[in-house]
Amino acid sequence: MEPRIQKVTVVGLGKLGACIAAALASRGFDVVGIDLDPFKVDALRRRRAPVEEPGLQEMIERASSRLQATTDWGEAVAQSDAAFLVPATPSLEDGSFSNDFLLQALRAVGGEVASQKKSRYLFVVNSTVTPGSCDAGFKPLLEETMNGKCGEDFGLCYNPEFIALGDVIRGLLEPDFVLIGESDEQSGALLEDINRRLCTNSPAIMRMSNVNAELAKISVNCFVTMKVSFVNQLTAVAARLPGADARVVLEAIGKDTRIGSSYLKAGLGYGGPCFPRDNRLFQYVARATGAEAALAEAADRINEQVNQRLFETVRAHARTGEAVAVLGLAYKPNTSVIECSPGVWLCERLAQEGWSVLAHDFAAGEAVARALSNGRVRVCSDPQQVFQQDCRTFVVTCPWPAYRDIFAKAGPLLQPGSVVIDPWALLEGIAPRGRNLVHVCVLA
Ligand SMILES: NC(=O)c1ccc[n+]([C@@H]2O[C@H](COP(=O)([O-])OP(=O)(O)OC[C@H]3O[C@@H](n4cnc5c(N)ncnc54)[C@H](O)[C@@H]3O)[C@@H](O)[C@H]2O)c1
Repeated sequence: MEPRIQKVTVVGLGKLGACIAAALASRGFDVVGIDLDPFKVDALRRRRAPVEEPGLQEMIERASSRLQATTDWGEAVAQSDAAFLVPATPSLEDGSFSNDFLLQALRAVGGEVASQKKSRYLFVVNSTVTPGSCDAGFKPLLEETMNGKCGEDFGLCYNPEFIALGDVIRGLLEPDFVLIGESDEQSGALLEDINRRLCTNSPAIMRMSNVNAELAKISVNCFVTMKVSFVNQLTAVAARLPGADARVVLEAIGKDTRIGSSYLKAGLGYGGPCFPRDNRLFQYVARATGAEAALAEAADRINEQVNQRLFETVRAHARTGEAVAVLGLAYKPNTSVIECSPGVWLCERLAQEGWSVLAHDFAAGEAVARALSNGRVRVCSDPQQVFQQDCRTFVVTCPWPAYRDIFAKAGPLLQPGSVVIDPWALLEGIAPRGRNLVHVCVLA
């Protein structure tokens, strides 16, 4: 077997990269992180987490003797035999992802590897990329920069992560499976070895060409969006079928092993920084190759309809101009991320159409206050504040478990005739009753 890789650099210390750096260090690798943002580098140097993520701070403290940070490319490359590249790859208008930050990083690392005359350096791309990027973009750039041959003088692998914000550390250490794209057998074997040492479970390691791995990565998220939209399609049908209950149906069909129960819960649509854009990237790839992605397109369309159905449900209960409380602004519990969040979408829509909105979230309030300029949305820092206003319509848009307690206690404060719209059925069993109170768990 080839000598193992022990020293690595992690390029891009954002939401994913900072966790990869800490996880590798915690599992015994010598890690040097590098970022264009000096604040993130400085934070890591001071043993502070550069981004918010549960468990990250503790992990950095535990692994600090093996975790360095720098803004100097020469130093990062000198102290490593492999680079994990995790810069952002922003979505473009046509649905594809921009490789600009990645190309910039590859050029910087490749230039240093060439000038330091390092042999068989391993480049590992972790960012999500448009399929075809490794073969058509990264490989020629590195071959030119380093005046060498990919697969012989250096290796190029694609190793995307399947993590969920709020659960990144567990996702990195205990993945369902590891996906490796490889330019050559030797590079793939080295990366497989790194992953086996990183993971605390024993996941299946799937090795393949770089383009297959690029396509596999977005296929996973695209498939899950399709599943979520199937649930929302079924929910819409059941809502119109007298006596039908989508939740009962979903619980039953999830027992079929061909279907499975994960992501099979009635609620709202998918959001966040990955699902919507990975699904659109799949559509882009289909268009670019002359194929059709009807399922991915339908998933998006159904997802938009869920937001619209939520708005219509509010409109059916609250007269224009009244106050509406929107509880839960993050795209899911345990994160402050508000990208493509149904709660934020609803706040904006209600405000545009003349309602006044009292909004709350346990983590995302500040981000929403910064992002929303509409004066009709007031972000409350304390959830109790929304009950003290002249408000009769409450919408739980993100199922933070703590809202259960809050509603259990605040129930008696609700005005007669109040409506609680609860698409996740979070308040089942404790929803306020009597005094003409209405609890709506199904979107019409
Ligand atoms: N966050 C997630 O949940 C998640 C999940 C799976 C995949 N991904 C993918 O991982 C990639 C990174 O996502 P993120 O959420 O961590 O992004 P982020 O914006 O939080 O972090 C990116 C970091 O890269 C740095 N950077 C940009 N260009 C650089 C360069 N040339 N050199 C060094 N540093 C540079 C930025 O300063 C920033 O700190 C994206 O492709 C994303 O699609 C993210």
